[in-house]
Amino acid sequence: MEELKSIIKDVKNYIELEKESGLKEMTFREMFAVSIDAASAASEGIGHEDKLKELEKVRQEAKDCKECELFKTRRNTVLGEGNPNAVLMFIGEAPGMEEDIQARPFVGKAGQLLTKIIEAIGLKREDVYIANSLKCRPPQNRTPFSSETIACRNYLTRQIDIIKPKIICCLGRPATQALLMMEMSITRARGKFYNYNNIKVMPTFHPAYLLRNPQDKRLVWEDMQKIQKELKEIQ
Ligand code: URA
Repeated sequence: MEELKSIIKDVKNYIELEKESGLKEMTFREMFAVSIDAASAASEGIGHEDKLKELEKVRQEAKDCKECELFKTRRNTVLGEGNPNAVLMFIGEAPGMEEDIQARPFVGKAGQLLTKIIEAIGLKREDVYIANSLKCRPPQNRTPFSSETIACRNYLTRQIDIIKPKIICCLGRPATQALLMMEMSITRARGKFYNYNNIKVMPTFHPAYLLRNPQDKRLVWEDMQKIQKELKEIQ
């Protein structure tokens, strides 16, 4: 019964996102397959405790990090959160004000939209892992300097090495550049898979950009469908 309720909720979210993205047709069968399979694979508990311990080590190191100047203005470092066995990982840009206060990634308005995006492909926020390329908030949410991204990259790559996701979705240009170390606009980069250590990487628009440019939700939806298809093939 609980599972049925959860599936119905997924369908509702899916329809809502479909409506927002302007698409009229839906593929229910496709959606069911991923919502069940991906969620169960994501919750496989292999090495769960060890991974949590390793991630905690990284968190403790990052907490006192002074590798760039952002330690002077941060309230908290925001390492990330989610399933340490996640098949799918999201990487954002950097914590904003809310994230800096709560020490959690994507908890503001952009975070609410990210949660909807995750649910629209039949997963729950707890099934995936969410991190940022920078672990500290840049003042006034300015775009990260490349020196900051480079200084912080080690925390991100260690997180990826521990979690070992099959797919990473980079949200926006700074996250894509930080991981793939390539110079490309997000408009050109999005919609295709790239390779990072044998992990498939899909760049797409950042949810904060979508809040300002809702007409591009359709493109993110297309990118998410590619991820959904890939997840189905993995399982
Ligand atoms: N934007 C990001 O890129 N990351 C967050 O955690 C919040 C907003």
